[in-house]
Amino acid sequence: MTKKFYITTPIYYLNAAAHIGHAYTTIATDIMARYKKARGQEVYFLTGTDEHGANIEKAANTAGVTPQKWTDDIAAQFKALWKDLDIQNDDFIRTTEPRHERVVQEIFEILLKKGDIYKGKYGGNYCLSCEAYIDESELLDGKCCPVHKKQTQYVEEETYFFRLSAYQQKLADFYKEHPAFLSPKFRGVEISKFVDGGLKDLSVTRTKVKWGIPTLSDPKHTIYVWFDALINYISAAGYGKKLGLKEYENYPLNFDDLWPADVHFIGKEIYRFHAVIWPAVLMALGVALPKKVFAHGWWTVEGEKMSKSVGNIINPRDITAKYGVDAFRYFLFREVPFGGDGDFSINSFKRRFNADLANDLGNLLSRTLNMAAKNVGEIPAEYNGEANLLKAARRAEEAYNEHMEELAFDKALDCAWTLIGDMNKYIDETKPWTLAKTDPARTKQILLELIFTLKRVNVFIAPFMPATALEMQRRLKAGAIEKYAPLFPRIEG
Ligand code: MSP
Repeated sequence: MTKKFYITTPIYYLNAAAHIGHAYTTIATDIMARYKKARGQEVYFLTGTDEHGANIEKAANTAGVTPQKWTDDIAAQFKALWKDLDIQNDDFIRTTEPRHERVVQEIFEILLKKGDIYKGKYGGNYCLSCEAYIDESELLDGKCCPVHKKQTQYVEEETYFFRLSAYQQKLADFYKEHPAFLSPKFRGVEISKFVDGGLKDLSVTRTKVKWGIPTLSDPKHTIYVWFDALINYISAAGYGKKLGLKEYENYPLNFDDLWPADVHFIGKEIYRFHAVIWPAVLMALGVALPKKVFAHGWWTVEGEKMSKSVGNIINPRDITAKYGVDAFRYFLFREVPFGGDGDFSINSFKRRFNADLANDLGNLLSRTLNMAAKNVGEIPAEYNGEANLLKAARRAEEAYNEHMEELAFDKALDCAWTLIGDMNKYIDETKPWTLAKTDPARTKQILLELIFTLKRVNVFIAPFMPATALEMQRRLKAGAIEKYAPLFPRIEG
């Protein structure tokens, strides 16, 4: 069996409902998975939920339910949202599943035996929201977490450490030898600097947190939620089968068919966990490293950071219920280069909807098909005209594929919209509706060229707007042309 293209999202915390930030990473992964599938590759797309830790326990307590009930409910909400957003994930791993917990426990014992995990004492400034100790040098005003801007607490405990410091040089060497690993490049610089600045061993167990995976050899210690969570990428892929665990006897996947992952998509705030800690754990296990870790930027909303207290958290359904799933998917990846930060404003959303989708694409399709109904009759199965538009489309395809491989989604979409612009210009210049009166043969040729170029554009937009692409395909397929409703009715007001 050949290795599949293995792509992952982070597994999401369940202390709050899914918002546009979670949707962003998941849709990006879906876009890449669909693109690779369309290119004929076998793909495995993993997402899931990160269900242990003090924050989840607290959220459940506040709601007056058990953590298990809480996580069952919110995990189901995440699953339903992904379905509604047309996400085609192959698996959905929950860290409370036995298949995952068992692998985490086993890995802990393996590393303990090897000496990569050892028992010690730890004291430090702990941020409850990060579920992590914050280094003294990073505290704001000597006390606050730089991400959450909330006060940290000084905590001391007996704990097991992962010997992260032993991997500093190996990581630095790895980054040098695998320049594609840290992506995008500008974000990788920060990681290299961080590693070169020296790595401290990492506390990987907690005695205070009850809602966690207990270690097998010292069960009053539960495993630190990040150590637990990162392992999902290999537990879901069947690492337990490789370890010979009996829970994995009938597991449907073979680890080597998936691993190493081709890319982990994550947000920039969790880059260090994925680009420093995770590879070090894999090195300690003697498992190959993922080929790439790609950290995208953050969305603000109307210029402000999303937060509960400001009350500006966008639930994807607020947008999709009004404007459709595809317009939402399109906007997120056209508006901002993947990798950079962006701002979600309803005005820019409407502007793009009307300009790019209703006018440029939607009108092009309806103009073309309306004229074709009168002048072409039936759409043939093939058209071999060697005209300029089709040539441009072939050139655009090369550029499009390059951009997709580089994860430059906005540029890939630009290729599609440049062609769409060319087509609209072509119609304005050739005026088929006038030409039809004097030269029906030439008119038919022009319209067929438009139809067949539209078919190519459709392939470009399909990973981004799957339902739209299906509908366009239906309208453009060989045969008689009917009357159709607009693809994207303009948003008024
Ligand atoms: N549970 C960890 C990940 C463990 S992976 C082994 C976690 N979960 S999370 O629920 O906080 O979700 C993180 C994902 O949501 C990241 O990819 C992050 O970038 C994304 N976003 C959360 N808010 C965001 C924005 N405002 N903008 C863009 N993405 C953001 O971290």
